[in-house]
Amino acid sequence: MSVNLETSYLGLTLSSPLVVAASPLGRRVASLRRLEEAGAAAVVLPSLFEEQIEHDAYQVHAALESGAGIYQEAAGGYLPEAAEGYTSGSERYLALVKEARAALQVPVIASLNGVSAGGWVGYARKMEEAGASALELNVYFIAADADETGEQVERRYLDLVAAVRSAVGIPLAVKVGPYFSSMANMARRLVEAGADGLVLFNRFYQPDIDLEDLKVRPNVELSTSAELRLPLRWIAILKGRVDASLAATTGVHTAADVLKLVMAGADVAMSAAALLKQGPTWLTKVRAEMASWMEEHDYDSIEQMKGSLSQAASPDPAAFERANYMESLISYATPTI
Ligand SMILES: Cc1cc2nc3c(=O)[nH]c(=O)nc-3n(C[C@H](O)[C@H](O)[C@H](O)COP(=O)(O)O)c2cc1C
Repeated sequence: MSVNLETSYLGLTLSSPLVVAASPLGRRVASLRRLEEAGAAAVVLPSLFEEQIEHDAYQVHAALESGAGIYQEAAGGYLPEAAEGYTSGSERYLALVKEARAALQVPVIASLNGVSAGGWVGYARKMEEAGASALELNVYFIAADADETGEQVERRYLDLVAAVRSAVGIPLAVKVGPYFSSMANMARRLVEAGADGLVLFNRFYQPDIDLEDLKVRPNVELSTSAELRLPLRWIAILKGRVDASLAATTGVHTAADVLKLVMAGADVAMSAAALLKQGPTWLTKVRAEMASWMEEHDYDSIEQMKGSLSQAASPDPAAFERANYMESLISYATPTI
């Protein structure tokens, strides 16, 4: 293969932009090995959740029968060491990081998932100590409190990023959703708070209503390529405007999806749904298709392609903004009815 698929992400050199997104596929070291063999350039482990860590802290305290003050201590930033004989979810997670690090050549990115800067953030350092190459912080927050202002919501994100940043020395990526009044400004402030990379975007799972049972049901529907447009636009807008690596997630299903994201300015493209549906060979196929497309179109390397159609580099920068909206609506081929 004569094209160079290497890319740099969070200061790490990766063999291609194909990264396994946080998902249950990363729960087992044997599966991670298979993903690496098939061509994953890095893997993000499934998240360790704030709630899980705090639950474990409570269980440990209960096991130690340490008496009153449990909640206050945990809330105040103190998390106890594990009691003998008790294997918590957090400990199993740290063991997974350690084993994955030992078993894989590619970088292993641990993932921490939460919404508030509390004692649980200390697990970021434990992940670093367990050997994580980098950390991904997923802030999955539904701003449903009508008393909390947009500024307060943003402050919550920034305080959390700053807290995690001060806990670790490894590179830190921050995964967020797109729902900010000023996405570009928020992206810049996340970077100023300590993010080395942004993972765009979190996919918020929408509950559905079951009309037969009259119940609200959590319903995970996997993405399609149609959802790629949102990260594609924002990566194109942010490329060159924030001093951070850019990772795309949501809707990465084909080699064409990955190539478009790289042209928009992505350093890596992360996939969960395509891998859940098609298995590790998806990576081998997409890698080969990317390389042959690049050869056919005379591209030597990913770095050469990267950002070539970002907003800053684009011959038509307005295409990413409102001008394109009016044009698209006017040019829509409307049937005569
Ligand atoms: C079953 C499932 C479990 C997931 N678990 C996590 C997780 O633990 N942490 C996280 O940050 N993202 C998690 N995600 C989100 C994915 O990492 C990814 O961002 C999202 O699915 C969009 O990418 P896709 O279109 O390739 O699926 C999960 C997704 C799925 C489908």
